[in-house]
Amino acid sequence: MIRRNFITKTIVLFFLLSATKVFAVEGMWIPMLLKSLNEDEMKNMGLRLTADDIYNVNTSSLKDAVFLFGRGCTSELISDKGMLITNHHCGFGQIQSHSSLENDYLKYGFWAKELKEELPNKGLTATRIVRMENVTTQVMAGMADYDNTVKKLCSDAVAGTHYTAVVRPFYYGNEYYLFVTEVFKDVRLVGAPPSSIGVFGGDTDNWIWPRHNADFSIFRIYVDKNNKPADYSESNVPYKPIKHLEVSLKGVKEGDFTMVYGFPGRTQEYLPSYAVEVITADLNPMRIKMRTASLAVIRAAMIQSDALRIKYASKSAGIANAWKKWQGELKGLNRLNAVEKKKIFEAEFLQLAKNDPNYSNLMKDFEGLYKTYRPLAWSLEYYSELFTNGAEIVRLSSALIEPYEKYKLLTTQDTATVRSFKKQINESLDKFSASLDGFFQNYDVEVDKKLMKAVYPIFFEGVGDSNISVLAKKEWLLAKMNADAFTNNQFSKTMFTNKDKLKKWVEDTKKSFSKGMKLLEKDKIFLLSKDVYGKYNHDIYPQFITVNTNIQDKMTLYMKGILQYLGKKKRLYPDANSTLRVSYGKVQGFSPVDGTNYNWFTTIDGIVEKYKPGDYEFDLLPKFLELYKQKDYGRYAQNGVLHVAFLASNHTTGGNSGSPVLNADGQLIGINFDRAWESTMSDIMYDPEKCRNIIVDIRYVLWVMDKYAGAKYLVDEMTIVQ
Ligand code: ARG
Ligand code: GLU
Repeated sequence: MIRRNFITKTIVLFFLLSATKVFAVEGMWIPMLLKSLNEDEMKNMGLRLTADDIYNVNTSSLKDAVFLFGRGCTSELISDKGMLITNHHCGFGQIQSHSSLENDYLKYGFWAKELKEELPNKGLTATRIVRMENVTTQVMAGMADYDNTVKKLCSDAVAGTHYTAVVRPFYYGNEYYLFVTEVFKDVRLVGAPPSSIGVFGGDTDNWIWPRHNADFSIFRIYVDKNNKPADYSESNVPYKPIKHLEVSLKGVKEGDFTMVYGFPGRTQEYLPSYAVEVITADLNPMRIKMRTASLAVIRAAMIQSDALRIKYASKSAGIANAWKKWQGELKGLNRLNAVEKKKIFEAEFLQLAKNDPNYSNLMKDFEGLYKTYRPLAWSLEYYSELFTNGAEIVRLSSALIEPYEKYKLLTTQDTATVRSFKKQINESLDKFSASLDGFFQNYDVEVDKKLMKAVYPIFFEGVGDSNISVLAKKEWLLAKMNADAFTNNQFSKTMFTNKDKLKKWVEDTKKSFSKGMKLLEKDKIFLLSKDVYGKYNHDIYPQFITVNTNIQDKMTLYMKGILQYLGKKKRLYPDANSTLRVSYGKVQGFSPVDGTNYNWFTTIDGIVEKYKPGDYEFDLLPKFLELYKQKDYGRYAQNGVLHVAFLASNHTTGGNSGSPVLNADGQLIGINFDRAWESTMSDIMYDPEKCRNIIVDIRYVLWVMDKYAGAKYLVDEMTIVQ
């Protein structure tokens, strides 16, 4: 009896283990290679399409519905009239730019009721991949004149079309792919939910499961009358796409096949152990420490008054996003023993390559290079975190370093150069002046002083004596290493805290360079800025670049060896580089730490559970609460329950925001918008047990559009399958 029980248990356990193994698949795969590398596995996991349905250049395929949104997000077409969906946080800049106190679209949402109410967005593009091609042979053959080789490949590829082309290195320059793209330049805002729905949970919930926000916004691509991309014009019409996605109301259940199609930005899966050690032992802890200090100041200010909350909301979101990600990444890498695992991998690699003289010194070389790299990366990152988190006027005044330095050179130049320098100085001054309204709209002197007090001491103590710039060090010692004294002294003699003074200074300086520049030379903040930025730009950064270039060369060699020796045993994928990729996995919960188990979905009940009236992140509008009472979920519910978000095991990263999450039939079931923070080490090392992406259920998105926003006409424009 006991024995039988043991056997059953073992079998069950074995099944569980092997089941989890099959669920998650590491990798961001190249669409044109799915057929040879992934199709069988995808079908075994449940996919009912062929690789050709996903990527095909001869007929329409799913790829024609997936667009790069702006420069860093993904979006997808969901109607035959060019309707695009992406994340709320991807459309945030546009939504904000159309918002005012009278029309607060951020707070109350925005819905165009007809085409002519849709709002144009200067500079916003949506880009379709027309085709991709492996051009490794051609690039390698023309490597001696790389720039011209690439230029020629691109111009040949687009000759006689309105397309553009780029060539991108893969595998650290061991392969090259050419991408022909079609760039659409008239992309209009159609709709966005209120922030209390789209950003519900705010920074507190960012990177967190369980999650309860509908992170989506709706745009539309417009074209000229020939259905071709065109600059904004009133006469443009909605784009008639080659392909748009079907939207599924069929529901989702745990274990279902999912795939994410999008533009992941950057991963570093092949770093050597030495690099991972620098990240886990030095860089991430330091960045986290700097940001913990600045966030404490900003958050304390934000609860002081509404005015400060509004001023610092977007800054705190930006600082906190990476801060939280790094914490998850650090924890995840340590838990995985990532450095050890990398060492084992390196030993295995050396064993396979032991007869190849190209690799006999590689690890020794890495060791030596990373010895030089480590302190340089440390100070480089320290400076860059100082610029992000320390007093903001230091960064503001850094815009005047270049015009000042040009001014100092005027006496030594010939007449033509003097004329051009003067023109450039005036341009820089105008640009600086134009930036002031925006800067001071979100600025508070007292908060800024506190930032200097909190952040500079950490920098001085941590960056290492020899890396502190000369003047900063002198001032720090003069202040007897007292943060208050140092800060008060720096702020005591400066015009950079005062917008009107600065504007006047610009006007005066344009009349007389010498008078203005003399004043600048006595400004404490400008001098500090010139000193710290000077150290960074003229000393630390060039040194860093030298060693990093050597490291990248070795990475090219290392990667070549990995492809050659491990590529035979193991299917490999290139790091993310903002090009189109497919990740696949399954709908799946997870256990972030021992003793916990995360369910794979959340529901609208959880929103109301988190509701905190009047809170900046967890408030709800009356209309939402009213609808919640009515429980009118109709066809958007699953067994009477309205699902909000779900988890899946797709390998994703920044840039996958807004990516379509597709079911086994290639129908849209959700929009990717985040990862759980316990997963974020997947940029460096993926763990199938812990890596989950966070998706807003498309049925919740449609419910918000239909029932909350009264925009059923947009839902009706889609191709719904149920
Ligand atoms: N963590 C997500 C990403 O990396 C979402 C960020 C925006 N949301 C926020 N609450 N700050 O982009
Ligand atoms: N929010 C991220 C983005 O904007 C996606 C989250 C991630 O890093 O996976 O792309």
